[in-house]
Amino acid sequence: MATRNNTLKLKFDTARNYAPAPESKSSAIIAERYELFIDGKFVKPESKKYFDTINPATEGKLSEIAEANAADVDKAVKAARSAYDTTWKKMPAKERGKYIYRIARMIQERARELAVIETLDGGKPIRESRDFDIPIVANHFFYYAGWADKLEYAFPNRNAQPLGVAGQIIPWNFPLMMAAWKIAPAIATGNTVVLKPAETTSLTALKLAEIIQEADLPPGVVNIITGAGDTGAALVNHPGINKIAFTGSTEVGKKIQHAISGTGKKATLELGGKAANIIFDDAPIDQAVEGIINGIFFNQGHVCCAGSRLYVQESVFNEVVRKLKDRLETLIVGDPMDKNTDIGAINSKQQLDQVNKYIKIGQKEGGEMFQTSCSIPSTGFFCRPTIFTNVAQSSRISQEEIFGPVLAIQSFRTDEEVIEKANNTPYGLSAGVWTDKGSKIFNMTQQLRAGVVWANTFNQFDPTSPFGGYKESGYGREGGLHGLMSYVKFANA
Ligand code: NAI
Ligand code: MG
Repeated sequence: MATRNNTLKLKFDTARNYAPAPESKSSAIIAERYELFIDGKFVKPESKKYFDTINPATEGKLSEIAEANAADVDKAVKAARSAYDTTWKKMPAKERGKYIYRIARMIQERARELAVIETLDGGKPIRESRDFDIPIVANHFFYYAGWADKLEYAFPNRNAQPLGVAGQIIPWNFPLMMAAWKIAPAIATGNTVVLKPAETTSLTALKLAEIIQEADLPPGVVNIITGAGDTGAALVNHPGINKIAFTGSTEVGKKIQHAISGTGKKATLELGGKAANIIFDDAPIDQAVEGIINGIFFNQGHVCCAGSRLYVQESVFNEVVRKLKDRLETLIVGDPMDKNTDIGAINSKQQLDQVNKYIKIGQKEGGEMFQTSCSIPSTGFFCRPTIFTNVAQSSRISQEEIFGPVLAIQSFRTDEEVIEKANNTPYGLSAGVWTDKGSKIFNMTQQLRAGVVWANTFNQFDPTSPFGGYKESGYGREGGLHGLMSYVKFANA
C-alpha cells in the first residue's frame, strides 16, 4: 500500500466569501393563529389557550398555535374512532390508496412553501428542507400509497387487519418528515390517526392538515392536535387508542412505556441514539471526512441517528482530525434561509442550553475542544461546530445524547477494540463503517448492535428501508415493509 502523505492538506477555498442568497419567503403563507384539526375541520380548542411559535433564527414570533387539553384530545380520538368504524376500515383498499397518492402529489406541488415554513419554524437550512426533508415526505406518501391495496402480497395468507386508532407523537428535528413516517403507513393499512407535532415546530403539520382537507380525505381519518408534553400524555393515556407511535427522547419513551403497560395498547418507540462512526485506516479518507461532517453536522446535529461518536484507527488519526478541522472551517453557520448556509439555528433556547451544557462538561472532563472561527449571528440560537479529542469512553459527551453539533473523537487499534467501544452504549440506533474491504464491512455489520449500519456513507434514508433501534433506542421499525407490520394485526394468527 502506498504510504500516505500526512502533510497533505485538503484544499478548500476557505477564503471565498459568498454573497447572501436568501430564499424568498413569499410562498409561505403563515396565518396569525392556528386551530386544531379535528374531524376534517379547524376548530377552536376547548382549552381556549394558545402558545407562540417562533423562528429560532430570529427569535421573532411566527404564529399562535392552539393548545389541546384532555377534552380536545378526547374529541380528536372520538372523531378518529368514528371515521375508522363508519368509513376508513370499510373502504376498498384501492380507494384508500388513491387518497394517499393525492396527498403525495399535493405535497410535491406545495414543496417550496413547505420547505420555507419548515426552515422558518425549526431553524434548519433551507437547502436541507428543500432537498432532503420535503422530497422524503412526498416519497413516503407515494411509497405507502402503493402498499395500500397490496397487503396480501406483503403478508400472504395472513389476512392483515388494521389496529384501529393510532395516537402519534413526533419530535421537532424533522417535523414534516416525522409526520409522514407516522401517518402514511398508518392510513395505508386502514387505521385512523391523531397526531401531535412537537410544540416548537407545529406549522408544517398544520399545513399538512390543510392539504389533507383539500384532498378531501374523509373527515376524522387524520386529526392533528397541537400542544406540549401534557397534550402528548393525554393522548397516550386516552383509553380510545389502540396504538401509540412515538419518536423523541428516551426519557419520554420510558414514561410512555410505563403508562401503557397492561392496557393492551401497542407501541413503537423510536428514541435517542449515540451512533459510532468508525474510520478504518484503509478507508477513502477524504470521503470519510465528508461522511463525518454529514454524520454529525447535518440538521445541526439534531438527528437521532447522528454519528456523534467518531472512532478513528490510530495510524490515520492525526490525518483525519487535521483534515476534519480544515473542512470544519469551511462550514457556513447562520441564516437558515440563505441557500449557502450549512448549519442553521438550534431549534430552541432550551436545546441550545442543553448543547452548551455538554460543551462545558466536555471541557471539564478534560476533552480538547476545537471550534471553528466563523462568526455566528448575535440574535437567534446558534452554536459553532464543535469537536472534542482526548475523550474517554466513559466521558459523558461520549455516552449521552447531546443532539447538537458536537462530536466526540476517540482512536482505536483493532477491530475487536472498536466493536467493543462502539457497542458500549445504552443506545443502538445506527452506526457507520468506513473501509475499503467488503469483508470488514460484513464483519462489522454482524457485530454492531445497531438498527442501521451505513457502509462508506452516512444518514441515508429511503422509504423502502426499515429504520429503528435496539436497547434504549426503542423498538419497532418504520419504513419499508417492516413499517407496515407496526400497524396491522393478523386475523389468521
Ligand atoms: P421530548 O421527548 O420531550 O419531545 C418529543 C415529543 O414528545 C414532543 O412532541 C413532546 O411534546 C412530546 N412529549 C413530551 N413529554 C411527553 C409526555 N410525558 N407524554 C407524551 N408526549 C410527550 O424531547 P425534547 O424535550 O424536545 O428534547 C429533549 C432531548 O430529547 C433532546 O435534547 C434530545 O436529546 C432528545 N430528543 C431525541 C429525539 C430523537 O429523535 N431521538 C427527538 C427529540 C428529542
Ligand atoms: Mg418554531
